[in-house]
Amino acid sequence: MLQGKRILLIIGGGIAAYKSLELIRLIRRDGGAVTPVLTKSAEQFVTPLSASALAGDKVFTHLFDLTDEAEMGHIELSRSADLVVVAPATADLMAKMAGGHANDLASTLLLATDTPVLVAPSMNVRMWLHPANQRNVSMLAQDGIRRVGPDEGDMACGEFGPGRMAEPTAILAAIQAMISDGPLSGRHVLVTSGPTHEPIDPVRYLANRSSGQQGNAIASALAALGARVTFITGPASAAAPLGVDVVPVQTAVEMLEAVKAAMPADAAVFAAAVADWRVTDAASGKIKKAAGSPPPSLSLAENPDILATVAQMETGRPRLVVGFAAETDDVIENATQKRTRKGCDWIVANDVSPETGIMGGQENAVTVIDETGAESWPRTSKEDVARKLAERIAAALG
Ligand code: CTP
Repeated sequence: MLQGKRILLIIGGGIAAYKSLELIRLIRRDGGAVTPVLTKSAEQFVTPLSASALAGDKVFTHLFDLTDEAEMGHIELSRSADLVVVAPATADLMAKMAGGHANDLASTLLLATDTPVLVAPSMNVRMWLHPANQRNVSMLAQDGIRRVGPDEGDMACGEFGPGRMAEPTAILAAIQAMISDGPLSGRHVLVTSGPTHEPIDPVRYLANRSSGQQGNAIASALAALGARVTFITGPASAAAPLGVDVVPVQTAVEMLEAVKAAMPADAAVFAAAVADWRVTDAASGKIKKAAGSPPPSLSLAENPDILATVAQMETGRPRLVVGFAAETDDVIENATQKRTRKGCDWIVANDVSPETGIMGGQENAVTVIDETGAESWPRTSKEDVARKLAERIAAALG
């Protein structure tokens, strides 16, 4: 997928630097070329020789070892790549980026570049959560810098939490999504997925059986065609796909807010099984059983219809809005009416009667309804349905 692409890989000084050597190997195996740049502190963790051997290319370390400056100055070095990747992106490197510093080769390259930049942060959990670092993270996002990770987990320093660098396979997927050529490159597609959880009290909630598998497969298939995908997901059992920007939410109201915040988009696919109702007065403490008293009664309010809200936007509506219809009876008739009622362009209808085994299962049989009529696809894996749908979306966006 990365054939003919060159990545300038800036390796920061963190314990995760060893994973960046594996990243070099993965990029090259995928057809890409890597020019490594090591910061001074990165050299404490990995040697320029190992980075150079794996990259099969010269490694740059100091601003003034650019006698190379004559043949390849820092401006040229920063611009000749298709993508600049910073992995591990330490708190210090990100602070320099956010502040526009240029006092070593890595920060100078990052300030001089006009190429897209992807950062893979890596640091101690307290450092990650520190307001100063969070300020830098949001400033970098505002500057259009993309981010993969950090992951949550055990850290080399013995603590637990967010801060661990994303795995090399996840960084590779993010790189592919950013620069591989595909019919959807340069397009932004929004995908909702999974169930929503509507709290009754702090320990109980209303939910449904959606596993999120179909939404995952659609997000992956869109990213594989080169789209930038914002994946807004309720608490699904399936782990979110690689190479997409994941926005986790719990409730329908949160999902709507996240969808609005992710706009504008060229297309939006609403695969989430959003709970139709929420509990009006969710209790702030756990509801207790009182001896002899009747079970509590729940009062419900209707949730906002996210698909209809976006499909009927007067300004900023995505060019293509795709909804799903989960039906158990008169599937095509109900789904056709749903398309008109919600105002979306296509409805992907599926029969979720328990005997089909579709909800929570591996396969799907869908009918795509657009303004010209209904097109039924044979029952197949959710991945195949997703690939076909992604190709249809690419064709529609042109
Ligand atoms: N949907 C949504 N917000 C909601 C409810 C549904 O965005 N509050 C979206 C779903 O993601 C899906 C489509 O609307 O793309 C249809 O969902 P479905 O559950 O089939 O339809 P409902 O509108 O809930 O209608 P009903 O339950 O009466 O069939």
